[in-house]
Amino acid sequence: MNLFSLYRLARPALFMIEPERAHNLSLTMLDRAQRLRLLPPAAPLAGRRVQIAGLSFPNPVGLAAGLDKNADHLDGLATMGFGFIEVGTVTPKPQPGNPRPRMFRIPEAEALINRLGFNNLGLETFLKNVRQSAWVKEKRGILGLNIGKNAATPMEDAANDYLLGLEAVFPYADYITINISSPNTKNLRQLQSDEALDRLLFSLKKMQASLALKHKRRVPLFLKIAPDLDPSEISRIANSVRQHDIEGVIATNTTVSRHQVAQYAHAEETGGLSGAPLLETANAVLRQLRGVLPKETCLIGVGGVVSGADAAEKIQAGADLVQVYTGLIYRGPALVSDAVRATRSA
Ligand code: FNR
Repeated sequence: MNLFSLYRLARPALFMIEPERAHNLSLTMLDRAQRLRLLPPAAPLAGRRVQIAGLSFPNPVGLAAGLDKNADHLDGLATMGFGFIEVGTVTPKPQPGNPRPRMFRIPEAEALINRLGFNNLGLETFLKNVRQSAWVKEKRGILGLNIGKNAATPMEDAANDYLLGLEAVFPYADYITINISSPNTKNLRQLQSDEALDRLLFSLKKMQASLALKHKRRVPLFLKIAPDLDPSEISRIANSVRQHDIEGVIATNTTVSRHQVAQYAHAEETGGLSGAPLLETANAVLRQLRGVLPKETCLIGVGGVVSGADAAEKIQAGADLVQVYTGLIYRGPALVSDAVRATRSA
């Protein structure tokens, strides 16, 4: 039995369980199956190779942040054939996140709403997990580490949390994502606005340069932004990215908009909406960024990929690479091979 048919069999039962429990159970089963060697080797599927930001991606389809917040399922996830895997968001200190329930399915729209709120075990445990992964030790894939701020850190000290994260994860990351776009940490997305963004990017670039000297290697920084921005805000972010020489942008995080799902149960839940209804909004952000950023700036398109055709559409909209999360819940691991295949010629 392969991973695809296993997921097809398990999905109806998983969908009867509370979403966060189903999520944890799926990852536990994936880990067990990997340890028992029931799964393919932990290696990327052969696809179109992409050279960008000083990295060579074996295929352009990656796992988006948030599915493995503590980096403790890397070896299992790597059997799914991703070209790269991003884990986190990790905050300097452990924090529990919001009270449960905090994750909701909208199956009619192939969507999810979550307000997890950066629940994670903190930097120390995160890095211990990264170091223990055989996939990491044997350097078998590209690893993105995604950093954020603790909920209890006042906004005026936010940069400090990102600097702590940057310094700690730098030696282990192939790229580092600066997540300033979760809707579930109060005021976090204010960091996307002019002065706050300039100050943050300035201090991050300064530390990146000194860490590069210390560790004798360059690690690119990718900025992850929200879909809920108007064209003038996107244009200002793009200017800051260019000015500060940020190596990449990940567009986008989840949306606070509900207009595509208003008719369905759970639409009124607070949090970020992901999955199919996000595709068009996220693609519009991507297109605008591609129009103004130089081709050397890596663009990762994420939001609403639930089929191979959606992944190809992101590439056509200007993405160098794509990521998936919610689509995996609805389509299972077959989504990865479909997307790798569809992006071969896109
Ligand atoms: C997320 N996402 C996310 N992003 C991030 O940068 N850090 C995080 O911790 C999380 N956590 C998280 C939890 C859950 C349950 C979901 C569904 C999503 C956002 C994710 O990486 C992605 O940007 C969006 O979900 C849009 O992509 P999909 O899901 O439509 O493919």
